[in-house]
Amino acid sequence: GLFQYIETSVENEIGFITLNRPKQLNALNRTMVGEIVSAAEEFDCDTQVKVILLSGHGKAFSAGADIDEMANDNPVSLELLNQFADWDRLSLVKKPIIGAVKSFVFGGGFELALSCDLLIAAGDTLFSFPEVTLGVMPGAGGTQRLTKLVGKTKALEWILTAERINAETALKYGIINKIVAPELLMEEAISFARMITAQPSLAVRMIKDSVNKAVDYSLYEGMQYERKNFYLLFASVDQKEGMEAFVEKRKPNFTGR
Ligand code: HXC
Repeated sequence: GLFQYIETSVENEIGFITLNRPKQLNALNRTMVGEIVSAAEEFDCDTQVKVILLSGHGKAFSAGADIDEMANDNPVSLELLNQFADWDRLSLVKKPIIGAVKSFVFGGGFELALSCDLLIAAGDTLFSFPEVTLGVMPGAGGTQRLTKLVGKTKALEWILTAERINAETALKYGIINKIVAPELLMEEAISFARMITAQPSLAVRMIKDSVNKAVDYSLYEGMQYERKNFYLLFASVDQKEGMEAFVEKRKPNFTGR
């Protein structure tokens, strides 16, 4: 579709979503979040796309939710807007989402990054939840996702103090997958994405689905769920092809079926 605050394109089986409000450091207004989710959903149904790559134009990935837009909200307006339904939809996207982040990854921008499946960060990246300094708190999953990722101790420290976490610390705590030189961010993110587009896409899909269930389910439930996905892949053409190719000592030719 045509979007006002983001740009999209498809190249080499990668669906690009680029935040495009650089003068406001890609502050996320509600229309913009809706556009990001719509674009991700379009790519999720697009057979030309195997992986989604989310990044930002300009200096920063995103300085957070648009404070001007939020300033006059009240509980009733927020309830009626139901803006977080968009964020829920983002977590239903089945294809992997890679975030390529740099400079400020703040507030809602940090939550958007935490909604990605994999993160590549430029060496100059700073992550922070500054909400407390505005008299509020994260509202799009920050207190939940960060805590599940790094544990209660550091999550509380960082969200209570608005501390800016650098890329090295984020890597150490498993928030990001990789640190790269700022000038190579997109190049590195694309080669990371290509490692996944090269894999049979139904297996990729079931792996994302199963790993995400590990966050929500008990170990027992998660293992039952994993098993069903494992069985399901044996209905795929790519499973037959992958295993036949191994036996015949040749390269597999995957079709995504
Ligand atoms: C609206 C923003 C913005 C934001 C930056 N801008 N962040 N506008 N909402 N979150 C605007 C500035 O007003 C400014 O506009 C322009 O972008 C450039 O920003 P500067 O402040 O001039 O840049 P700099 O001095 O480099 O400082 C960068 C910064 C600072 C440290 C990131 O902009 C900042 O503190 N921003 C707010 C960060 C924040 O509190 N985020 C959390 C929001 S709450 P003008 O017109 O003056 O040029 C949140 C809740 C999520 O995210 C809830 C769920 C969705």
